[in-house]
Amino acid sequence: MSKEFKLPQNLLLGVATASKQIEGGDTDSNWNDWYERGEIRDGSNPARANDHYNRFKEDIDLMAEMNIEIYRMSIEWSRIQPKEGCFDEGVIEHYREEVKYLQSKRIRVLLTLHHFSNPMWFERIGGFLNKDSSDIFLQFVTTVVLKLGDLVSEYITINEPNVYVTSAYYFGEFPPGHKSFKECREAFTNLALSHIKAYKGIHDIRKKMGFSDTKVGYASHVRVFEPSRKNNSFDKISAKLMDQLFQVGIDDACMIGRVSFPIKNHKYFEKGKYYDFVGINYYARSMVKFFEEFPKAEAPHNDMGWEIYPEGLGIVAKRYYEKYNAEIYITENGTADRNDKFRSKFIYDHLKVIANCSVPITRYYHWTFIDNFEWMDGEAECFGLVNLNYETQVRTPRESCIFYSEIIRNKNITDAMYSKYVK
Ligand code: BGC
Repeated sequence: MSKEFKLPQNLLLGVATASKQIEGGDTDSNWNDWYERGEIRDGSNPARANDHYNRFKEDIDLMAEMNIEIYRMSIEWSRIQPKEGCFDEGVIEHYREEVKYLQSKRIRVLLTLHHFSNPMWFERIGGFLNKDSSDIFLQFVTTVVLKLGDLVSEYITINEPNVYVTSAYYFGEFPPGHKSFKECREAFTNLALSHIKAYKGIHDIRKKMGFSDTKVGYASHVRVFEPSRKNNSFDKISAKLMDQLFQVGIDDACMIGRVSFPIKNHKYFEKGKYYDFVGINYYARSMVKFFEEFPKAEAPHNDMGWEIYPEGLGIVAKRYYEKYNAEIYITENGTADRNDKFRSKFIYDHLKVIANCSVPITRYYHWTFIDNFEWMDGEAECFGLVNLNYETQVRTPRESCIFYSEIIRNKNITDAMYSKYVK
């Protein structure tokens, strides 16, 4: 049977990264402190990472060779604002250079303003538990957009508030390593307010600058929660509850200002529409039994044990489109595969779901461009299309990278490509 399929003509393809995971150099963030406290499992230091801050031209040249059309990148708050009230003009200029260089290669930028890392001064005053955190964040966002707004029209305010909050305040795996449901609710609420204020702020600033093409959204980590035993009422109820706790509550608060558990009521929540696209980071499905979640056993898994479930991408895209009715951007999708054994198949299967999906998915950002600092797992996991030797900093495109580059160039997958790369 033929394996060939065409991608929708209006689907743009690219890669996503996060500053803390690739830049190196910076030592003023909570992740540097987390490292100092011995919390990175393999002991690797985020100050090394990929040295992308100095090598961004080399990396962008490589992206251009890969035919990348769109790039989701983030900027590092702790670099731009190393101390409260102090913004580093040199760093802002650096990011202007980076964006201009991308544009000179015809790569369109989607800029993330917060991706899991905080400046240490902000962390010390409670981070997103601080009752003024949404205003503090807004001040940072305002400064950035005033300085970069003439170059950048598309923004993601916050990456995965749900993963950030549960990892930092419930499972204790991200800094500050707390385990408190009460704090989770507080941080969720403040992040939703931060998103809404940033959404409005970015639009206001760019409007005053005379631009009408601004697009703002945020990236939600969306999972499929499925009852482990299909007809068991406990499993069904707990799958629904996890869905509410992990995604429905925060997504409704950020996107439409609707308050539901675990979000706390706040006088600033006002019903509205706070997104210009729906950003979905999709990785896996979770099976739920009572109140436990785990990957399905009899299924393919990646290096980290996450289930590979391409159909889930179609399920979440449809669900979010029907609910929020805006173009879907897959702002992250990728897999940990050190030996590049199944990444090409992963890409093939997920893009096929997109090609056959009945709702408009117009962007696909593969996670990720290059192996990077994978948070508490340090340098141990390999999500990159490009392999990185951390010692020598040599970048080597994997076979799946060549496959993906050909897909972008042709906007289709032929039988010959399938048998060459997917096997
Ligand atoms: C995060 C990335 C991370 C990836 C793989 C996503 O949830 O946004 O920063 O590297 O998952 O773990």
